[in-house]
Amino acid sequence: MGAVVGEEVPLFDGGGEEYRAGRVALVRAVGVVFSESGRASQREAVVDWLRGLLGDPNERIRRYAMAALPKVGEREVVERALAGMARGVSGERERRHAGKALAKVAGRGALEVADVLPAGVAQKIKAGAAREAGGRVLMDVAMPAGVRIHLRGRRGLEGFVRSEVEGSRMLRGRMRVVGGGSGLVVLEAAGGFSLGDVFSLRCFGTLNLVLGEVAQDWEAVAGVIASERVWRMVRALTEGVPRYRLEFIGEGHRRGAVAAIAERVHALRPEMLNDARSAMWAVDLHPAGGRLSVELRPRLVPDPRFSYRLADVSAASHPPLAAAMALLAGRGESVWDPFCGSGVELVERARLGGVRRVYGSDLSREALRAAESNLDAAGVKGVLRCCDFREFPRIAGICDGGVDQIITNPPLGRRVPIPDLKEMIGDLFTLAAEVLRPGGVLVLANPVGSEWRGNPRLRRDVSQRVDFGGFDCRIERYSVRHSRRA
Ligand SMILES: C[S@@+](CC[C@H](N)C(=O)[O-])C[C@H]1O[C@@H](n2cnc3c(N)ncnc32)[C@H](O)[C@@H]1O
Repeated sequence: MGAVVGEEVPLFDGGGEEYRAGRVALVRAVGVVFSESGRASQREAVVDWLRGLLGDPNERIRRYAMAALPKVGEREVVERALAGMARGVSGERERRHAGKALAKVAGRGALEVADVLPAGVAQKIKAGAAREAGGRVLMDVAMPAGVRIHLRGRRGLEGFVRSEVEGSRMLRGRMRVVGGGSGLVVLEAAGGFSLGDVFSLRCFGTLNLVLGEVAQDWEAVAGVIASERVWRMVRALTEGVPRYRLEFIGEGHRRGAVAAIAERVHALRPEMLNDARSAMWAVDLHPAGGRLSVELRPRLVPDPRFSYRLADVSAASHPPLAAAMALLAGRGESVWDPFCGSGVELVERARLGGVRRVYGSDLSREALRAAESNLDAAGVKGVLRCCDFREFPRIAGICDGGVDQIITNPPLGRRVPIPDLKEMIGDLFTLAAEVLRPGGVLVLANPVGSEWRGNPRLRRDVSQRVDFGGFDCRIERYSVRHSRRA
């Protein structure tokens, strides 16, 4: 063991009861030191020492040794020692401590004793083993008719989601919009669809399968999650052992309630495991007029729809919002994003098809590197330049009616105040009127309001207030009038 430990441990071992009780922190310190450093032979010695402490007459020393053991490695030896401890001790409290430590190593040995442990800990151990074995949500399984889906997302994007559903060839005749609310579009399936089909839509934030609506009663919530109907659905949609994370939406951590519901679900349906870490499912509890809407959500990280986003910038657009802006632009053969950042709007527009020329400009080299790699990953070819947006049309040769569409999320002056924001957006309108073809469109997030009014070539035809993640902004569409002297 290390130098300090080499001196302290013999003193600890040879000390009297009181001396040892006063230096119990040494046990934790040894665990921490050897979790980060130490040769294999030293770790073995540490594990031996800690195992010896599992038989100490002092309960605190035993407890500290149990907590330190999983940190040090030597997984199989540690697991055997802790499993023996869990089986051997008589007190419930000590068994729980042994179980908690075991949950951190969670191999086959831990699973063998899981059933003698308190329910919450047993579930943790099973979840740990299942996590290690892997698993995922199956996106191509056919789902039955009657399933309800809540597509949730940013407030203000509901209309885009609805028109995506209604215009989707993939979902035609299989899914219809039956309701909605703020940031919510409710769908009902006529059958024969898969989760992957719904993920062909790009403007929603999360896909939630509605399991039921119940009173704020934990027994009722657990009853829904563990029901036969839900189990059949979860089973069919999961490869591996289904694990879920439980969350009260908009209410912060409610650890007591989460633990109570998870334990009850486990008692009713032991095959379904609560797991706060990297579970493939979330069960979200959304407030619904004094009741709770219980919703099952695949946790897909990264979101497969936006997997081209290999690189990011801090001011990057929320991808479903960029998708909505692309949708708003409609048809066109060429598109320019003057403030392209990591290129999300450009990729989203290119994915809709019909685009032959893609242009992007940004002042930041880092942003352009991100845009390059994202466009590349999405298979989109573009002309990208590091320059002020006012310079770009000349550089790219698109000065006079050279593009069909401008789609952009400019700096909004929120995180970094921009003194000449109004002037900058004014310049954008002036430039748009010059570079856009007659009939072309400018789609932007507009942080300043009415700067376009001085420009007779532009006509505003859409203005939609959208939640930009804590503040509202308008996304707007302007069309270029056909006559230059309008
Ligand atoms: C809101 S971000 C754009 C985010 C982008 N849509 C994305 O998803 O990554 C605004 C971008 O404008 C760029 N910018 C600021 N002033 C500029 C200017 N005068 N000319 C060109 N780009 C500028 C910033 O470097 C920043 O990357």
